[in-house]
Amino acid sequence: MRRPLVAGNWKMHGRAGDLVGFAGLRAPEGCDLALCLPATLVERAARALSGGGLLIGGQDCHTAASGPHTGDISAPMLADAGAGLVILGHSERRTAHGETDADVRAKVAAAAAAGLAPLVCLGESAEERAAGRTSAVVVAQLEGSLPEAPPPGLVLAYEPVWAIGAGRTPEAAEIAGVMDLLRARLVARHGAAGGEVRMLYGGSVTPANAAAITAIPGVDGALVGGASLKAESLATIAAAFAARVTA
Ligand code: PGA
Repeated sequence: MRRPLVAGNWKMHGRAGDLVGFAGLRAPEGCDLALCLPATLVERAARALSGGGLLIGGQDCHTAASGPHTGDISAPMLADAGAGLVILGHSERRTAHGETDADVRAKVAAAAAAGLAPLVCLGESAEERAAGRTSAVVVAQLEGSLPEAPPPGLVLAYEPVWAIGAGRTPEAAEIAGVMDLLRARLVARHGAAGGEVRMLYGGSVTPANAAAITAIPGVDGALVGGASLKAESLATIAAAFAARVTA
């Protein structure tokens, strides 16, 4: 049985004062809870919030451990700041920074080498979905973005690009279908280890739809953007996944 994981993604939001409201946030029994923060907040959050089992993560890392890369941040730097995981290949980076599957794959290796659990995002655009290409797109992203051997703690997040920040989500059956397909690919690639990789759904997850999302077959948790900016919302979503386990 894979343990659920709910991960918040603050994107480019948040200053020190915004952590105050998260001081009481605890991972509920039966569900891992992570907060992936702007790099400026990682160390502060790791010091202030990691009691209560909350995991702290970054949102991207460079492929190299160090070097002449002005403005970038490396996986060992995130680990040094107290991060335990890092989001990689988010669609906002694939789109706005031109990240390719090969880039993501190299970042996954860099994260793993630094001891960070990589949380790899994939998902189709609205145009790809309309063209009936969802399956082909997500399988190609999976094949291209993951290294030969799955790194320890690897997590996948299926995030349809058109559902991110949009207030709409795919039908439950669509999500279940993609999860099924991705799981089959993971197991075909990695055998039993592929069965252990947690797969999250992301894209407009809120306290209002969290319980329904926990009921979708193959969904091991959620990657939460907007709703993660409020501690109560994130806690409600994590509680929904924790309740599924103990139900
Ligand atoms: P959202 O973002 O929950 O605001 O849709 C999810 C994400 O981009 O990770």
